[in-house]
Amino acid sequence: MLTPEENELLCRVGPAAPMGKMMRRYWIPALLSSDLEAGGDPKRVRLLGEDLVAFRAHDGRVGLLDELCPHRRASLALGRNENGALECLYHGWRIDCSGRISDTPVEPEESTFKDRIRATAYSVYESGGVVWAYMGEPGAEPPPLDLPFTHVPQENVLTVRVNINANWAQGLEGVIDSSHTNLLHRHGVRPSADVTTTTLETGIVAKRPSNDTRPRMEVQDTPYGFRYAAIRKPLANAESQKYVRVSLFIAPIFAMFPPPKGWIFLQAFTPIDDEHTMFFFWQVCETALDEKRRAELLESACLRPGIDLDDEFRLKGNRSNNWLQDRGAMRRGESHTGMGGVSPEDIAVQESMGPILDRSKEHLGVSDTAVIRFRRMMLDSVKRFVEEDATPVGLGQSIPYADLRAEERMLPIDASWYAVGAAGAEPVPA
Ligand code: FES
Ligand SMILES: [Fe+2]
Repeated sequence: MLTPEENELLCRVGPAAPMGKMMRRYWIPALLSSDLEAGGDPKRVRLLGEDLVAFRAHDGRVGLLDELCPHRRASLALGRNENGALECLYHGWRIDCSGRISDTPVEPEESTFKDRIRATAYSVYESGGVVWAYMGEPGAEPPPLDLPFTHVPQENVLTVRVNINANWAQGLEGVIDSSHTNLLHRHGVRPSADVTTTTLETGIVAKRPSNDTRPRMEVQDTPYGFRYAAIRKPLANAESQKYVRVSLFIAPIFAMFPPPKGWIFLQAFTPIDDEHTMFFFWQVCETALDEKRRAELLESACLRPGIDLDDEFRLKGNRSNNWLQDRGAMRRGESHTGMGGVSPEDIAVQESMGPILDRSKEHLGVSDTAVIRFRRMMLDSVKRFVEEDATPVGLGQSIPYADLRAEERMLPIDASWYAVGAAGAEPVPA
């Protein structure tokens, strides 16, 4: 559990909050490149509690600006995207991608007013079909985040995003909590003695070689954050083997968990504000994914845009309709949770905790080892960042992000798990 003060410190991400200040030192996924058409409509974006507007100029460059015009604060999301700048509808001020004001048509012609003002514009770059944003001090950007999905052809990547009604840390704590998977997801993740690693199955999602609900958790700090092993008894050969799943926490908002063979899974929890999170899920396949395969994957995950998700990427199930829980399906044994899909199950329990979970009222057990490590790591980092101006966790060093992998393996019962998912996991320098 955390004290109420620590909980606030962990969760709040606005411009004045310590975690908000620290989070602004990293690149975070803001939106998808496909959201912005060259010369097309500007889009409202809310990030770290700030209302912004994103647009793509005719030449392809992306601007990420304060939503409100520097003149008299009309919304630039209403503006016209023309000739490399956003033009405010109200008095025609023109603002380019860098925040420079190129025209103030209602001021005297000789006015130099526009040269003395700049709109707030944040740094962006694009890779892997994502617009990455940096909202910290200008000029102090870290190197681009080179995560594994950014280097593969986009035909091999399925990107899903869901707008969650809960704080970012609640979402992230769900991915680094291996123990819930055999319980919450028991409908979609089925134990099977026929497999030795997780195997995708159309219709149910996956088979897993263990039904052990009591994994032993072991954590190792790494330069990027930490990795942890969830060690289970397998269904077959339990006297001589152990089933090890190694997941990664990549500071500040990323996680990887072991995918089925031939895939890489990576998730991010971008704070929209203190009480809302944009969940990104990248599934990278070793082969190209055609439209039919994409549709099947989205259907079995219950994450179909326009069907399971609305135009703002919100699931149709939410607190007001009890997350569309179907008690009849539960009674008939058709569904363990009464909700479809692994991610909707995760999101339902995360939202059910309230917009900001009160961590002073929890009772954490040994199964929560990785969750505890995550909180401690981020709290230590933010305290040292504020008090000593220390470099936030994961920054200021060269990390082979592109090589990071979460992995699962069946190991001899006495073997060390340290070689599993070990890329980029050298001991943390003292
Ligand atoms: S408010 Fe934008 S130009 Fe006046
Ligand atoms: Fe889950």
